[in-house]
Amino acid sequence: MTEMKPIISSVSDTARWVAVYRAIESDRPDALFHDPLAGMLAGEVGPAIAAETRRVMGDHGWPIVARTKLIDDMITSAIAEGCDRVVNLAAGLDTRPYRLDLPKDLIWVEADLPALLEEKKRLLEWQTPRCRLIRRGVDLADPIARKVFLADALAGASRAFVITEGLVMYLRPEEVRDLAFDFRRREVAWWVVDIVSVVIAERLERSGDGLLKNAPFTFTPANGVAFFEEDGWTVLDIESILLAASRFRRLSPLYRLFAGLPQPNPRKPGTIIPWSAVLRLTH
Ligand SMILES: C[S@@+](CC[C@H](N)C(=O)[O-])C[C@H]1O[C@@H](n2cnc3c(N)ncnc32)[C@H](O)[C@@H]1O
Repeated sequence: MTEMKPIISSVSDTARWVAVYRAIESDRPDALFHDPLAGMLAGEVGPAIAAETRRVMGDHGWPIVARTKLIDDMITSAIAEGCDRVVNLAAGLDTRPYRLDLPKDLIWVEADLPALLEEKKRLLEWQTPRCRLIRRGVDLADPIARKVFLADALAGASRAFVITEGLVMYLRPEEVRDLAFDFRRREVAWWVVDIVSVVIAERLERSGDGLLKNAPFTFTPANGVAFFEEDGWTVLDIESILLAASRFRRLSPLYRLFAGLPQPNPRKPGTIIPWSAVLRLTH
């Protein structure tokens, strides 16, 4: 008997999946952001994954919507505070260089696996970014390739804003440790990273029906935010994604109930209540 090919065939398909939720949000009359290119970029694969995840796990667009809005706002604030470079690692199908209000001369560097970036480049060929956009295909899990990329991406910057949105959960803890070390360069003023607790990974694995077999969550630090503090990072903001989604009015009644309960300790999120957060770090 031939085995069915999982609908998420590689980690890059997760970029198509999250783009779907940005497209759905953009169509709302009270949209928190407008990403008119997201639907086109998600293609046919993105909606198929979203439909399958909805079938096996229920509707879970709100974490992506809340995360996108939180990071949009952090970028806007950083630019007001003198950010002179944005480096978005594992940028996937993100289109912020086309949709945020950015200084025309801001250099924005995107990195992701080469095949995904090639496809993105082709699909966005006719669009004009609002800043100076540079794309680099690189395997960020390869320490040498990553160091070479970072040296190039940060050259000439003095207050860079580094983003790893939706990346570290797919890496091994030692790979995240290496990233945390590599980003501690004098050019980097801020690092924004989102993390999930083990409860979320276990739930996805249990209810996900093998959906994330090719893109499992492998980084769920038991010490939460402290993982980064141990590496010399200082936490400026801890934004619970659940509480942000509640503030943005994107939760179902059941999740609103969860948002009203006492929340886990970000330095010891525990193994009972699901927890995820966007962190803004400096060093
Ligand atoms: C969930 S998507 C997030 C994409 C984008 N940041 C967003 O929020 O829409 C995860 C992304 O990580 C990228 N990725 C995973 N492992 C990677 C690696 N080793 N090197 C470069 N990119 C990687 C995938 O290709 C994919 O685009």
